[in-house]
Amino acid sequence: MSMHPDCERIMLTEEQLKNRVRQVALEVDKEYENKKPLVLGILKGSIIFYADFIRFLSMPVELDFMAVSSYGSGAVSSGKLNIKKDLDRNVAGRDVIIVEDIIDSGFTLANLKTLLYERGALSVKIVTLLNKAERREYDVAPDWNCFDIENEFVIGYGLDYNEQYRHLPYIGILKRSVYEK
Ligand code: PRP
Repeated sequence: MSMHPDCERIMLTEEQLKNRVRQVALEVDKEYENKKPLVLGILKGSIIFYADFIRFLSMPVELDFMAVSSYGSGAVSSGKLNIKKDLDRNVAGRDVIIVEDIIDSGFTLANLKTLLYERGALSVKIVTLLNKAERREYDVAPDWNCFDIENEFVIGYGLDYNEQYRHLPYIGILKRSVYEK
C-alpha cells in the first residue's frame, strides 16, 4: 500500500481496521438482539467507519445522521456544539447507537447524549472507532471502542485535516509540517 506523502506513518492499516470493526460490530449486534435500534452516524468523520460497521450487523436497523461541529477549521476545539443537520427520525422511545469516528475532549458526545435523552430516547449508546482518552475534558465514555490512541493528529478512514485525506483507506499520522506551516 502506498502511503500519502503528507503522512508521517500509518497507524492502522486497512486490515487492522477491518478486523477490529468486524469484531466490535458483532459485539454490538449481540447486545441488541430482538431490538431495532436507530444507528446514528455523526457526519462527516464517521462515514467510512459507519458504512463498514453496519454491514457486519445482522439485526434490523434504521439509519440516520446528524452533522454537528465542535471544531473550527484547525486542530483546537471551539467550545460550542453547533447542530448543522438534525435527525430525520423522532428518537422518542428508541434505542439509539451513536457511531463516531473519534472521541477527543468528549464535548460533542456528552452534549449529544444529553440532547437525545431530553428528546425521549430509551437508550443511547456510543460506538467509536478511536478514543483519545488522555484528551478527555467532559464526562463521557464509549460503550464500544475500536482503538485507544495517543494524542496524535490522525487522518484517513473518514478523518480529515481541512477536509483533506478523508478518503485514505488507512489511519495515518499527519506530518507536523502540514499543519504547522
Ligand atoms: C470530530 C469528531 C467528533 C468530534 C470529537 O468532528 O468527528 O465529532 O470532533 O471531538 P470532541 O470529543 O472534542 O467533541 P469534527 O468537528 O472534526 O467534524 P467532522 O466529523 O465533520 O470532521
